[in-house]
Amino acid sequence: MKRGKRVRQLGLICLSLVLSSSAWTAEPSAAPDTIAARVQGCQTCHGAHGEGTADTNFPRIAGKPAGYLLNQLQNFRDGQRSYPPMNYLVAYMHDDYLAEIAGYFAAQPAKLQSMGETASAGDAATRLLVTKGDVVHGIPACVQCHGARLTGIEPGIPGLIGLNGKYIAAQLVSWRVGTRHAKKPDCMHDIASRLSETQVRQVAGWLASRPAVDPTSPAPAGAWTTPLTCGSQP
Ligand code: HEC
Ligand code: HEC
Repeated sequence: MKRGKRVRQLGLICLSLVLSSSAWTAEPSAAPDTIAARVQGCQTCHGAHGEGTADTNFPRIAGKPAGYLLNQLQNFRDGQRSYPPMNYLVAYMHDDYLAEIAGYFAAQPAKLQSMGETASAGDAATRLLVTKGDVVHGIPACVQCHGARLTGIEPGIPGLIGLNGKYIAAQLVSWRVGTRHAKKPDCMHDIASRLSETQVRQVAGWLASRPAVDPTSPAPAGAWTTPLTCGSQP
């Protein structure tokens, strides 16, 4: 009996400790709806400034074109892209709210670093694919849209450097199997579908081994003319 009483007492002490500590740490009930508060949930995976991580599939989102980021957030919300934690997180966010978040990460400095992958066999062919395309298989050169320096262009085309090779390969495969979609004409679906397994692997590794470029930001809209169609057809 004596023991039971002690346990109850201990329980009460613990409870009061929990209550008092939560009183210390509790946020005011009406937390201000600042952009800092809104992006808190993103930082656990994408890094404090959206810089991404080199060792997982969490991509950099800092410094990508705002229009591109907004499209992606809408795609996760509307089921055009699938990654359940993100789908849930943005499920009830309206366009204006998402646009603010997209603008916030677009304005973060993109610290582009080489992802540390090393050059490998097939690099010469890959360089050719990226800069000239693959005429035989109807694949346009990546630089036609992503730019000669591969930094992307406002408003909708992201850069291809400073991304993890695993992430790049996963995206190309998602397009091919239909778990990632983009706004029409969704050229990346056509392009990814025409790349061989080997090309996917090699282009992802090659892009991830590119050195950082300066400046890293996407080119302003109109800096070059992107093709009106998805490039050469087979
Ligand atoms: C649980 C981890 C996690 C959280 C939390 C998270 N993300 Fe993501 N996010 C990911 C992963 C993983 C991907 C890549 C998914 C894929 O392969 O398509 C991604 C992709 C993205 C993309 C597309 C990137 C690109 O280049 O196409 C954007 C934009 C993005 N997240 C923004 C956000 C924002 C904004 C938040 C907070 C509201 C957030 N994420 C919260 C893990 C997370
Ligand atoms: C005709 C224009 C065009 C060409 C050519 C092109 N891309 Fe793209 N690419 C785009 C657009 C537009 C997007 C953004 C799609 C979206 O909104 O989801 C994109 C997005 C991507 C992404 C997603 C990046 C991310 O952060 O998630 C990858 C990877 C990619 N392209 C790789 C390539 C490769 C590799 C090539 C060459 C073999 C290539 N692209 C050629 C237009 C193009």
